[in-house]
Amino acid sequence: MLIQENIELSKYNSFGCKATASYFCTVKRKDEIDEAISWCTHQNKPYLLLGGGSNILFTKDFKGLIIKMEIKGIKLLKETPSEVLISVGAGENWHLLVKYCVQKGWGGIENLSLIPGTVGAAPIQNIGAYGVEAKDSIQAITAFDTHTNKWVVLQNKDCHFDYRNSLFKQEKNRYIITEVQFSLQKQPTLHTDYGAIREVLHNKQIKQASIEDISNAIIEIRTAKLPDPLVLGNAGSFFKNPTVSIEQYNQLKQSHTDLIAFPISDTQYKLAAGWLIEQAGWKGKKKGPVGCYEKQALVIVNYAQASGKEIFDFSEEIIQSVQSQFGIQLEREVNIV
Ligand code: EPU
Repeated sequence: MLIQENIELSKYNSFGCKATASYFCTVKRKDEIDEAISWCTHQNKPYLLLGGGSNILFTKDFKGLIIKMEIKGIKLLKETPSEVLISVGAGENWHLLVKYCVQKGWGGIENLSLIPGTVGAAPIQNIGAYGVEAKDSIQAITAFDTHTNKWVVLQNKDCHFDYRNSLFKQEKNRYIITEVQFSLQKQPTLHTDYGAIREVLHNKQIKQASIEDISNAIIEIRTAKLPDPLVLGNAGSFFKNPTVSIEQYNQLKQSHTDLIAFPISDTQYKLAAGWLIEQAGWKGKKKGPVGCYEKQALVIVNYAQASGKEIFDFSEEIIQSVQSQFGIQLEREVNIV
C-alpha cells in the first residue's frame, strides 16, 4: 500500500477548501485497513478516514494519515419473494447505489437520492431526507474496531442510530466501516408524505408512483433547492435542526407565531434551523468568499476559494446571531477538522 506525503486536499472535500495531509493513502481491500492502522500505531500518527469528503470542513492541515476509502462492490446476500439483503462496499458512491437499487426495483432508500458522499459515510451521520433515514434500511455494518484491533459486525440496534447521529459519531474515529448491509423491499411502502414530493407527483399527474418516480421527484426537488457541490463548494446542511422541549417551543411560538417546528415526541419539538437562520437575516447573505445559500439557509457556500477557517468563522457568526435572537444554540452537522 502506497503512502504519499504532503497531499493537497481541495479535490477531496466538497467545500473545495485548501489543506494539506502530511500522509495519504487509498484503501481498496479490507486488509489494507489493518496495514494503514498498524502504520499509524508504529509512526504514532493520527488517522482520518475520508469517503466522498462531502461532510467535512478542513480548517487546518492534517498532520496524520488520511485514509481514503475506496472499497467497492455490491453483493446480493439473500433474496426472498419480498426482500433482498445486499452488502455494499463503503467506498461505493451513495447516489449510484440508490440508482442501482431503484433500477432493480428494490425499495427503501429512494428518498435518499442524490445525497452526496459514500456508502460508508451514510451510517455515521445516519443520512436522512424526505421522511426516510439510512437506519431504516441498514441491517448490519462490518467495521474495524481500532480500540480492540478486531473486525466486528454490528447489527442495526447496536449502532445507536438517531437523527444525524450514531455510535460511529459518538465514538468518533473508533470504527472504520468497510461494508454496509441493507435490507430492501420488493413491494416497498412509499414515503410520499413530504409536501414537496406530493407536489411534484401531482404536477406530473402520477397517481400510482413507483420508486423510480419518487427518486426522480427527489432529484428534481434537491436540484432546485440545493447547490451542486461540483459547481459551488458546500456540504449540504451545515447545521442540524435543533431539538427543544415543549415548554421552550411554546415560549418561542408565543413570540414568533410563524415558527416552523415539528413534534418528535410527547415532550420534544424539532425546529427548522433553516427558518431560524433566515429569520436572523442570513439567507442569501455573503461575506467575502463565503455565503449563506439563497434558496436554503442551512447551506453554507464557498463562492470563491474561501479557506476552511473563513467558512468556520462565518458559521460561528450564524450560531451567535441565532443564539442572541432566539436563545437556541445551533449545532454543526459538518465535521470540523
Ligand atoms: N426553511 C426556511 N428557510 C430556509 C430553509 C428552510 O424557512 O432557508 C423552512 C422550510 O420552509 C420548511 C422547513 O424549514 O418549512 C424545513 O425545510 P426543508 O424541508 O428544506 O428541510 P430542512 O429541515 O431544512 C432537512 C435536512 C436536509 C434534507 C431535508 C429534506 C437536516 C439538517 N437537513 O433540511 O438534509 O434534504 O430536510 O428532508 O436535517 C443534509 O443533511 O445535507 C440535507 C440537505
